[in-house]
Amino acid sequence: MKITKICCIGAGYVGGPTMAVIAQKCPHIQVTVVDLNEERIAAWNDKDVNNIPIYEPGLAEVVADARGRNLFFSTDVDKAIAEAQVIFISVNTPTKTYGKGKGMAADLKFIELCARQIARVSKEDKIVVEKSTLPVRTAEAIKSILDHTGNGVQFQILSNPEFLAEGTAVTDLLNPDRILIGGDASDEGQKAIQSLVEVYGNWVSKDKILTTNVWSSELSKLTANAFLAQRISSINAMSELCEKTGADVNEVAKAIGMDSRIGAKFLKASVGFGGSCFQKDILNLVYIAKSYGLNEVADYWEQVIIMNDYQKRRFSNKIVQTLYNTVSGKKITFLGWAFKKDTNDTRESAAIYVADDLINEQAQIAVFDPKVSQKKVLADLNYLETRSSDKNEDSVTSFEDPYQACKGAHAIAILTEWDAFTEYNWQKIYDSMQKPAFLFDGRNILNAQELRAIGFVYQAIGS
Ligand code: UDX
Ligand code: ADP
Repeated sequence: MKITKICCIGAGYVGGPTMAVIAQKCPHIQVTVVDLNEERIAAWNDKDVNNIPIYEPGLAEVVADARGRNLFFSTDVDKAIAEAQVIFISVNTPTKTYGKGKGMAADLKFIELCARQIARVSKEDKIVVEKSTLPVRTAEAIKSILDHTGNGVQFQILSNPEFLAEGTAVTDLLNPDRILIGGDASDEGQKAIQSLVEVYGNWVSKDKILTTNVWSSELSKLTANAFLAQRISSINAMSELCEKTGADVNEVAKAIGMDSRIGAKFLKASVGFGGSCFQKDILNLVYIAKSYGLNEVADYWEQVIIMNDYQKRRFSNKIVQTLYNTVSGKKITFLGWAFKKDTNDTRESAAIYVADDLINEQAQIAVFDPKVSQKKVLADLNYLETRSSDKNEDSVTSFEDPYQACKGAHAIAILTEWDAFTEYNWQKIYDSMQKPAFLFDGRNILNAQELRAIGFVYQAIGS
């Protein structure tokens, strides 16, 4: 089947950028991205392309190129489903907060709603593509819903996990390491796979497009994220040992990373990984393993999360201990709130948990992040339900100017590795702070020697 019409349900961090790039690279395909969230769709359609709801380097340019030509954003979900030959499901799959699997399993209610809606609306055969990260065997559930509630039309379910990382989404989409497409072994399944291969073939070379069965594809996504997260927890575990022994974790990471079998990427010690994927996917993996009675497998992967939680807590504890065991009433400035640089996404950001700990210790938190609003910071803290929203509001203030955020502070903590932080006038910041002026670099991005020469009491991770 030659694909000319695609619909994507979910205009978030995955659906938005992925569809924008497909539309840019395939001008002959009409791509419609739909979402229930009217505000989000309005932002995607904003006349000023710089107001699109997701900040990603290069994304505004791609959207400007294709929007209105063959890229459309709409809240009319039924219409887009009815018209499309291929429907990508890119809705959120948060960790369950209730019932069986609470805190571990993925909540698939949004996926199920999509499947039911696709079944109700479709009057012709369709290919349905899982884009969201999902537990293994979700495709089976989607197929069951489609086949039992549909209008007798045929559905082919493909798994096509997204490997883009936020902050580099556009380059990752334009030059992917690989595209993975899982489908059914039947003739129809293979034809559906080929249709999607052809879409990606417009800009990705065929040798980078892998086709597998559905379960391998679903499990590969969880495995990739688990392996990446495991590297970070491994180096973070070494960071504490380095602090105790006088080794430097950056030097250790460099030394081991030069071993071509290990490789240099994802070995940067930090305050802990965040983002919407790593924790959720590992919890998912743990839940699946446990549900098959594979307790050793489950415990092995769970340790990656335990180490990450420990690393975040260790950072806040270090701040409290260094500030003479009390931060009560002290201004502590957070530079960065996003879970990594070059994104406005804050899901599972280490900053949220470090702030929560310090507010428990009665600190006053000042936040500066180039892309995150005060509203978002408060919403993130309120989501934890540790205390009332009024108390959070009393404890946290966001600033538009980093120098104002740091003025009068007892300590500064770097939570996100934004490049701009390395270019600040640190002497000016030092002069405006309480003394001794403490600086906790949770990302190891600043120059220790220079900062110590200015007078800062500077502490990095793992040295
Ligand atoms: C991740 C995967 O990389 C991507 O393939 C998948 O599609 C989605 O999940 P993402 O969460 O967007 O992408 O960002 P990533 O670059 O993986 O960083 C995740 C977290 O790990 C961030 O908080 C980052 O700061 C942290 N990190 C990353 C480290 O602490 N050290 C590192 O060396 C690398
Ligand atoms: P991701 O990072 O996986 O892209 P996001 O939360 O950024 O996750 O985006 C998911 C989007 O999916 C949200 O904008 C949400 O409103 C949308 N969504 C969830 N369920 C549905 C649905 N049934 N129909 C349309 N959109 C949906």
